[in-house]
Amino acid sequence: MPWVSLIGFMCSGKSSTGRTLARQLGWPHFDTDAVIVERLGMSVEDIFRERGEDEFRRLERKIVEELPPERDLVLSTGGGLVLNRGTMEILAVQGPIFWLSVSEEDVWDRSQRPWAARRPLLKGTGDDLRERIRVLMAEREPIYRRYGTPIPGGFQHPREAGRHILDHLRDLDEFRVYFGLGERRER
Ligand code: S3P
Repeated sequence: MPWVSLIGFMCSGKSSTGRTLARQLGWPHFDTDAVIVERLGMSVEDIFRERGEDEFRRLERKIVEELPPERDLVLSTGGGLVLNRGTMEILAVQGPIFWLSVSEEDVWDRSQRPWAARRPLLKGTGDDLRERIRVLMAEREPIYRRYGTPIPGGFQHPREAGRHILDHLRDLDEFRVYFGLGERRER
């Protein structure tokens, strides 16, 4: 029944790593941003603008509450989902959580690419944007660290990040059966 959840800052590669990992495990993949966009028929940007960030966090939690607890799945999350404690408690109960950690500089570089402009919190340029990235990271990193096993530099190599995560999973008792390592060991 485990879920494997990926948390981390914007542009850290949670979606691509999640997709890769799900393929490696042969499990379904869910992405909270994608589910919200599909359900509401609105872009993340429009949801932020028209309904506000608090409503977006509520939607994230609702999506997580509605995922089947008994299924094996890989879950990629939006970078700010961790701000809702209740949402994180569900993820923590459901299985291991991995934190794709990236540097401020990497996020800055990525924020300059055209596709990153879809992220309302990364809009802007120059020093203002650098400062926002710094402030958001300072606020969120302690939460990422508290809940997640760190996997560095995820976005550069989703397949490699996926392999790192698989290595961690192999060491977990509850995953032994998935890797053909026999039943859970008695403690
Ligand atoms: C957000 C991250 C985004 C998306 C929204 C808000 C955040 O997801 O949920 O723009 O608050 O960090 P990604 O982390 O996939 O960019």
